[in-house]
Amino acid sequence: MSADGQIVSKFTLVQLENGNHNHESVKQRLLDGCVPFSHQVAGHKCGINNTGVLKHPDGTILKQLQPPPRGPREMHFYTQVYAKDCTDTRLLELQQHLPKFYGTWSPRESPHELYLKLEDVTRRFLRPCIMDVKIGRRSYDPFASKEKREEQISKYPLMEEIGFLLLGMRVYQINSDSYITHDQFYGRSLGKDTIKNGLSRFFHNGQDLRRGAISLIISKIRRILRWFETQTQLHFYASSLLLVYEGSPHTLDGQKHKQTQHRPQNNSSSHQSRSALTQNTNGTLGGAGGEDDGDVGVEDKMQFGQEEAVEVRMIDFAHVFPSDTADQSYMYGLRNLLAALELILKE
Ligand SMILES: Nc1ncnc2c1ncn2[C@@H]1O[C@H](COP(=O)(O)OP(=O)(O)OP(=O)(O)O)[C@@H](O)[C@H]1O
Ligand SMILES: [Mg+2]
Repeated sequence: MSADGQIVSKFTLVQLENGNHNHESVKQRLLDGCVPFSHQVAGHKCGINNTGVLKHPDGTILKQLQPPPRGPREMHFYTQVYAKDCTDTRLLELQQHLPKFYGTWSPRESPHELYLKLEDVTRRFLRPCIMDVKIGRRSYDPFASKEKREEQISKYPLMEEIGFLLLGMRVYQINSDSYITHDQFYGRSLGKDTIKNGLSRFFHNGQDLRRGAISLIISKIRRILRWFETQTQLHFYASSLLLVYEGSPHTLDGQKHKQTQHRPQNNSSSHQSRSALTQNTNGTLGGAGGEDDGDVGVEDKMQFGQEEAVEVRMIDFAHVFPSDTADQSYMYGLRNLLAALELILKE
């Protein structure tokens, strides 16, 4: 599969120079509108040997292929699931739980650099609240070295028991028109007694617990679990669920969403504000609008009611392997995640 000629735009990562490899310096070198994806909550970020996840001007995202065998394995997985001549009903069903895949993409001037071109699952949201949850009892695949296994286990020894790990989140705060973010270290700090509360933070907008969003997300996770209960051909290791819901209490035309549970909007939290601040766990601040919001036309943003305003998609397939048994480890994680979400709702 080659780069899609229609969407390729001039894109150059000019040689990094003078050891100045921070996020901003890399960004400045991305020409013709490809920029670091500002709605990324976990995973590899822009760095010296890595451009992380980028946003293409057409609204899709570009995930740089990781070094072999991980990158080619992920590419093979997407290619297999989205093959035009695919007749495997399990794989066809799986498509609805994944971001859409638009093939591979390469910068015109570096045709050997490969990226996966994917649907941006957050794109239709005005104020996306996003969480990346790694699923399964083991983060290492069956071919991992002893060192790799030990490294993964030491990162979160509770993975085996809990079956999932919060890798990162950002949550819109309605009163301040800002985002709270939590990184992977927050997730690793959560134990059996605190995981439910840790998870519930994702659904607090500073005023209310977003029960509607929790219910919708539960339904979508149940559908993914049903898919796993009927398939025995693939095992997923170190793969994630990306959860997204709408943080804005408004639709584009300024109306409140149907069935919204929010109290009247405080004037200071207009969703059009570009000066609002993001506070992360390290205490740094940034704009709530998101640095790349400007390149997505408002007509592309969410224009639907609250009942449609969530996404749950499986992402990160660098460690997916063929199998002939059910993926008990992933299902264990999904069931525990569902149980925790259901408990939050009951409180
Ligand atoms: N299709 C998507 N739509 C929106 N955001 C996405 C999408 N895919 C990835 N992201 C964002 O990018 C982050 C990292 O993605 P991903 O987990 O695929 O990469 P990674 O962990 O760096 O990769 P790998 O483990 O293969 O090295 C996710 O946490 C999420 O915030
Ligand atoms: Mg990841």
